[in-house]
Amino acid sequence: MRERIIGRKILRYAQVQSTNDLARDAADNGEPEGLVITAQEQLAGRGRMGRQWIVPRGTSLQFSVLLRPPLAPQHVTRLIPMAGLGIANTLERELNLQPTLKWPNDVLLDGKKVAGILTESSMQGDALTYVILGIGLNVNYTMRAYPELAPFATTLQDVLGRAVDVSALEAHLFRELDDLYVRVCDGETLLDDYRARLAMLGKPIRVMERGEILQGIAEDVDADGALILKQGDARVKLFAGDVTILQGNKEAI
Ligand code: BTN
Repeated sequence: MRERIIGRKILRYAQVQSTNDLARDAADNGEPEGLVITAQEQLAGRGRMGRQWIVPRGTSLQFSVLLRPPLAPQHVTRLIPMAGLGIANTLERELNLQPTLKWPNDVLLDGKKVAGILTESSMQGDALTYVILGIGLNVNYTMRAYPELAPFATTLQDVLGRAVDVSALEAHLFRELDDLYVRVCDGETLLDDYRARLAMLGKPIRVMERGEILQGIAEDVDADGALILKQGDARVKLFAGDVTILQGNKEAI
């Protein structure tokens, strides 16, 4: 049996600003990869695109993993599908749920966001020095307390109608991430598994990217997790953005 990388060392905190910040400090101080920082509460949890990530204390999974993948910088984006698949596999195998993925960084249950992924990389010259992989998974609370989020976001408790054993879920998720990470480091793209989980392929979508709005058909994803948007006969490759699936006149998350 090989030694695990992700979860090799776990530091648990009651309250932090952001687990990503602590993981980054550790990385800057030379910590080897695989360190996980978890927190019961984040006072300045970050989401993508400058958003906040706020979750009631002690209810959920919020953690960051320090990785030093032997990947060329242009392939770092592979870690996002990897993380999405790790979360989705865990929810399916541990809780018998049927999650889907929403490009680029969200995990959905019943069409609503249950988990988000935030990666932050550090480079030295042309070389990647480390990546911080931050994951937030909504577990034991109800979105009914957040009416402004409830149309778009959910929790495991809301979906299952009961509380979940967070420790068992965490242990499973670390194992899944570790298995997938080894495969990505070996050069696998996980593309077929990723495609199979993407809810939006073949559908009309709208993408907001850096203030620009693009519309088209979500045709495919490439080996690095970029989205191929088909606009008439043209194809645009996108590496980031906020997607809305357009369903006839209705819009879904
Ligand atoms: C998103 O969907 O916008 C990404 C959310 C990522 C949240 C996690 S929680 C643990 C880690 N620490 C942070 O400050 N953010 C990530």
